[in-house]
Amino acid sequence: MNTREHHIISRSPEETLHFGEVLGTHVTKGSVIALSGELGTGKTCLAQGIAKGLRVPEHLYVTSPSYVLVNEYAGSLRLFHLDLYRIDNVAQLDDIGIDEMLSSDDVTVIEWAEKMGDALPEERLFVSISIIDEQTRDFHLTASGQSAVDLLERCSAEYGA
Ligand SMILES: Nc1ncnc2c1ncn2[C@@H]1O[C@H](COP(=O)(O)OP(=O)(O)OP(=O)(O)O)[C@@H](O)[C@H]1O
Ligand SMILES: [Mg+2]
Repeated sequence: MNTREHHIISRSPEETLHFGEVLGTHVTKGSVIALSGELGTGKTCLAQGIAKGLRVPEHLYVTSPSYVLVNEYAGSLRLFHLDLYRIDNVAQLDDIGIDEMLSSDDVTVIEWAEKMGDALPEERLFVSISIIDEQTRDFHLTASGQSAVDLLERCSAEYGA
């Protein structure tokens, strides 16, 4: 499978939000963005930027889905925002209809995506976030599959990284 990697450094929540917005303007039908990183690395911040890029009305996406597993938003494409922090086993994913979400034309952003194990689609943009210091985050992006590679190329061209 075609893959591509890229690193982006963010020096503030605003920069992360902006990078998310760039991602959100370039996602296409069926894009899957998997987010991984410790508590408070900026996964939700990035997801909010993606929602913004998808023209989801701002008042709708201020809340994190931590307590509900999944939130659905109407933007230029439909967006599912999942937070798997509290799942105990992958069987719980069946209950929320994850297969339908992932095989649809909708965009899916998944926090704690590593908890999905093999259930994570092979074609996705995987974003591994680490904390460098209080304000600085390292985003390690790995695109797998042609449409994710294309997405990453469009974003890095625009982001100037
Ligand atoms: N460069 C940065 N990018 C994003 N967030 C940053 C950055 N620097 C500092 N922060 C802070 O880190 C926190 C990130 O919170 P956020 O809820 O996005 O993390 P999260 O990874 O979703 O956490 P959780 O695992 O609890 O869901 C915020 O308090 C934000 O202000
Ligand atoms: Mg979060």
